[in-house]
Amino acid sequence: MKPRKIKDNIYWMGFVDWNSRLFDSLIPLPDGTSYNAYLIKGSDKTVLIDTVEPEFYYELEAQLENIPRLDYVVSLHAEQDHSGSIPHVLSRYPEAKVISSPKAKNLLMDHLHIDEESIITVKDGETLSLGDKTLEFIHTPWVHWPETMVAYLREDKILFSCDFFGSHIATTDLYVTDEARSYEAAKRYYAEVMMPFRKVIKKNLDKIAVYDIKTIAPSHGPMVPRPAFIIDAHKEWVDDLPKNKVVLPYVSMHNSTKKMVDYLVSALVDRGITVEPFDLTVTDIGKLAIALVDAGTIVVGTPTVLAGPHPHAAYAAILANALRPKARFLSIIGSYGWGGKTVETLAGLVSNLKVEILDPALVKGSPGKDAYTALENLAETIAVKHKENGLQ
Ligand code: FEO
Repeated sequence: MKPRKIKDNIYWMGFVDWNSRLFDSLIPLPDGTSYNAYLIKGSDKTVLIDTVEPEFYYELEAQLENIPRLDYVVSLHAEQDHSGSIPHVLSRYPEAKVISSPKAKNLLMDHLHIDEESIITVKDGETLSLGDKTLEFIHTPWVHWPETMVAYLREDKILFSCDFFGSHIATTDLYVTDEARSYEAAKRYYAEVMMPFRKVIKKNLDKIAVYDIKTIAPSHGPMVPRPAFIIDAHKEWVDDLPKNKVVLPYVSMHNSTKKMVDYLVSALVDRGITVEPFDLTVTDIGKLAIALVDAGTIVVGTPTVLAGPHPHAAYAAILANALRPKARFLSIIGSYGWGGKTVETLAGLVSNLKVEILDPALVKGSPGKDAYTALENLAETIAVKHKENGLQ
């Protein structure tokens, strides 16, 4: 794809990756992604913001064909999908300097072997004049690495945000045209890499609130022409109060745990609670992560296998533990054949979660009357707890 003009002297560059289906060897990408770079030609200086995943540099190289001089390459984030092609860019433009946050400097040196002399670090709030345009750098740590920052182009009111406000969508549209689609893609990305840092992200949202932003230009997915849409979504996601919702990841081998899951779903729905069950043998973990963003309670359904939780359930627990959702309650349901330490093992896997553990419902063999009574009690406890905590 050729460079695409955003405004006079501001261009989208980068690579639209239609085919990737897995990001970081972990995150499903149902709609592909893009690696966006942005070229700004000021009256005095020319700057490139971010680059592309190195395997796609050939496209960026072609886009830079008619750019004879580059003064700066801004690295908003040192992760390789944005900074990985900086060494190639520096080879093409040896006079260019890399601009990064102080924390990014060592990361760029460690990950990409960029010379220290080539890097200029910028303080929070520092500006860079390009002549008739001014870039202001705003440190926004932990979206989702410690060194991340964003850049605000004052004259054009564009916020270059890298991963922050990004979405994994491959599209030929330069701007978001379907907010509902972008909402889900952005929520998926937030859930998978940013949710653990939501308290810091909350502060970052406060920090950028004072800027008059007309366009958000992330480094994944289309640009956002109505910033309030995506900023408000993030405010909701980082808010401390979860929703009146239960997320129920489960796995069942002989249908006993499945019967318990079905019963619990129905008992919760009877009490006005939204439930999202996920069969872990077929679940897209991105969908599970999205559901975890605002769940009030997590209930893990698992049979006991070899005296412990099913490995799929253990994986879900480890994932939830890493993502640190804001859920307030957690429980475990399932069936066992002869015994084991399923509850103890699973509880040990979620030590990061600040949750109250509700009495589990573990039964031997096929669920009967006692099991359904226990599930009814669990549903009632969840309903009461949600109400007491003001979850809506
Ligand atoms: Fe898109 Fe954290 O890299």
